[in-house]
Amino acid sequence: MRQTLIVANWKMYKTLAEAEEFIERFPGEIAGISGMETVICAPFISLARLSVLTERTTLLLGAQNMHWQKEGAFTGEISPLMLRDLGIKYVIIGHSERRLHFNESSLLIKRKVASAFNFGLIPILCIGENWEQHSSKETEKVIAEQLFGALEGLTVEKDILQKMVLAYEPVWAIGTGTPAHGDEANAIAGFIRSLLQEKWGEVSEKVRILYGGSVNPDNITEFTGKEEIDGALVGSSSLNVKTFAELIRVVFSERRA
Ligand code: PGA
Repeated sequence: MRQTLIVANWKMYKTLAEAEEFIERFPGEIAGISGMETVICAPFISLARLSVLTERTTLLLGAQNMHWQKEGAFTGEISPLMLRDLGIKYVIIGHSERRLHFNESSLLIKRKVASAFNFGLIPILCIGENWEQHSSKETEKVIAEQLFGALEGLTVEKDILQKMVLAYEPVWAIGTGTPAHGDEANAIAGFIRSLLQEKWGEVSEKVRILYGGSVNPDNITEFTGKEEIDGALVGSSSLNVKTFAELIRVVFSERRA
């Protein structure tokens, strides 16, 4: 059984004070929820403080990006060592906004994934097609290219590799209010698992695959209710304490039903 995972991606939202307020209120809002993981991927400058505030909670923290080197003359960058030092567990890698606005290439993403594993961080690797690719039925081709582009040649043990998280995020569904259909997302998640199976055998059964793109409390179970989907990467619906708590509660009740 793969444990359900809900990841909040706060993107470039929330000052430190706003982040603190969220983290102080949130555990109370989800009291009694167990058996699933909730991760908050906050902006870098809030992570140090949030790592203290989350110490006695079940919440886990993630970063939204990182450099691949341990340290060095890379002005403006944050290293995996710095993240690990704070007790950060997850790191989003290759989000489509980074591929698009910061020209992140497959090679760069591959380096970051390898580095995350090296430093004991769990990469949440994002893959997904844009609208043009979707309309021209190139989704599977794009997914395979992005997946192998990031993972081909990676030299990590299978028991480490299987901790990896993949997020299927169709670019056209992100921030648009128009999510993919649950069945469609489930089919792509199944396709991703079949690619993993071909390359890495039984690892494919352990890797968690999330759906991301306009998820909210009203539509979340359309995704988490599917066999191949193990959770969600949530952007705008993770910014408000009440909304995100509701989303977590909906998933929890569905799992118990
Ligand atoms: P959204 O963002 O939920 O606001 O669509 C998802 C993401 O970019 O991870």
